[in-house]
Amino acid sequence: MPNPKFYITTSIAYANAAPHMGHAYEEFLADVIARYKRNRGMDVFFLTGTDEHGTKICRTAEKNEMPVQEFVDKNAEEFQRFYASINSSFDGFIRTSDKKQHWPGAQTLWKKLAEKDDIYKSKYTGLYCVGCEAFVGERDLINGLCPNHNVPPEKVEEENYFFRLTKYADIIRQKLENDEIRIVPEARKHEIIALIKEGVSDVSFSRPQSQIPWGIPVPEDPNQVMYVWCDALTNYISALGYGSGDETNFTKYWPADVHVIGKDILRFHSLLWPAMLLSAGVALPKEILVHGFITSGGKKMSKSIGNVVDPKEFVEKYGSEALRSYFSRDLSPFEDGDFTEEKFLESYNANLANGIGNLVSRTIKMTETYFEGKAEMKDEMEVLLKGKDGAPDISVKDYLNHEVFPAYHGHMERYELNRATDTIWAVIKKLDGYVTDYEPYKLIKTNQEKTEAVLANLLYGIHAITHMLTPFMPETSKKIDEILGVTLSEDGTANTFSVRHVDTPLFPRR
Ligand code: MSP
Repeated sequence: MPNPKFYITTSIAYANAAPHMGHAYEEFLADVIARYKRNRGMDVFFLTGTDEHGTKICRTAEKNEMPVQEFVDKNAEEFQRFYASINSSFDGFIRTSDKKQHWPGAQTLWKKLAEKDDIYKSKYTGLYCVGCEAFVGERDLINGLCPNHNVPPEKVEEENYFFRLTKYADIIRQKLENDEIRIVPEARKHEIIALIKEGVSDVSFSRPQSQIPWGIPVPEDPNQVMYVWCDALTNYISALGYGSGDETNFTKYWPADVHVIGKDILRFHSLLWPAMLLSAGVALPKEILVHGFITSGGKKMSKSIGNVVDPKEFVEKYGSEALRSYFSRDLSPFEDGDFTEEKFLESYNANLANGIGNLVSRTIKMTETYFEGKAEMKDEMEVLLKGKDGAPDISVKDYLNHEVFPAYHGHMERYELNRATDTIWAVIKKLDGYVTDYEPYKLIKTNQEKTEAVLANLLYGIHAITHMLTPFMPETSKKIDEILGVTLSEDGTANTFSVRHVDTPLFPRR
């Protein structure tokens, strides 16, 4: 039996500026899930990339006095470099200006919709917000301004192609209601269903080439270029070879098991995209994970407020593992979350320096001092964790197997990533308590055998921690495992340790 496949994507970021904290967070979320599924034995394809067409990019390139292609080349490279620097394990990076891979995919899909008679030409009169790259209605505005960008939308009057979104709205609403397309968290599902119930219109699906020269030409009508969202959404299949010749990956990995996106682009992914796929007769994505926004000091990060935390500078200063740790511990994937340097330092010292760093260094040191760095996990030398508040005592192994792992995997499967790390840090706390209860530094004077058992259990527990932590902090987990010098027994559990000396703390206090 081949391993089950798992296809996960991020949204593709606009290549009009350097990556910001929101991009870093989304990439991190998808990466944790991808790493977790790989560790579970799945055949994972993790896709990320950049969205390189549209009015916004075209205008920003002009402002920067650069040819558009050069401008997006530079930014796309910056995204790739940044994602690599935070240890993203992506398997594919799609760029929508890629004429070999992406353009044929987008044009093939367009033709399918046209064959279905779901595309027609009409006059469009209305409003367009360049920031959103979206046509907006009066009801979307607050005091005449786009609420996302605080600018008035532009008036547009032109001949466009339209896509018959109205034809599919009801079917999609049903598929959302019965979780055929599952939206996580549940609240976002209700939000999109309510929006569909308010009423849906057909979507303008192209712009005149004269207005916006930077985009994919509409098949058989080079006077029109595709609307940027129509082109961008197709990345999820064009990256797998759809429409460009070799469809091996498309056959193998599509449909997406999960699209990871931010809350502002929910309607494109849970309405427009499924409608396009339905029209083309292509399978629908199974799940959409919708994350919240990162703020700074409770406010949207913005240059004018002066609260922007640049993720690249941050990684240069503190390292990617520290950033990943903050994302893991302090933000919930389903809600908005705050990022400030002050909060980061607090979390760093509590979770890393005093938390895992301290537990590892004490345990290693005692093993070195008392047993020349060697310890073995033997069944006959159980020293139990003391049950608190009337709970019975329990062995470290049973505690991990019966309490910790089921909770951890449950959270991971439900994408409750910060709750999964709560489970990990509960183990750290439990092991700290184990040291306090048995005081190996005193016990060694009276009972050498029992002290060795305590240390073996501690090392065993630490290895369980690194195992669970790998998707979140891959480098730290690897480093700790090297320090532990673990040898696994046949059933895959850690049984002997030959610890390595460490001179510098894993996470010095900051
Ligand atoms: N190009 C479109 C997506 C096309 S997908 C077919 C786009 N790009 S974006 O660069 O504006 O946003 C990329 C992702 O970052 C989106 O999922 C968006 O929700 C997310 N974020 C943008 N700002 C964010 C925060 N402040 N916090 C968290 N994520 C945020 O939309």
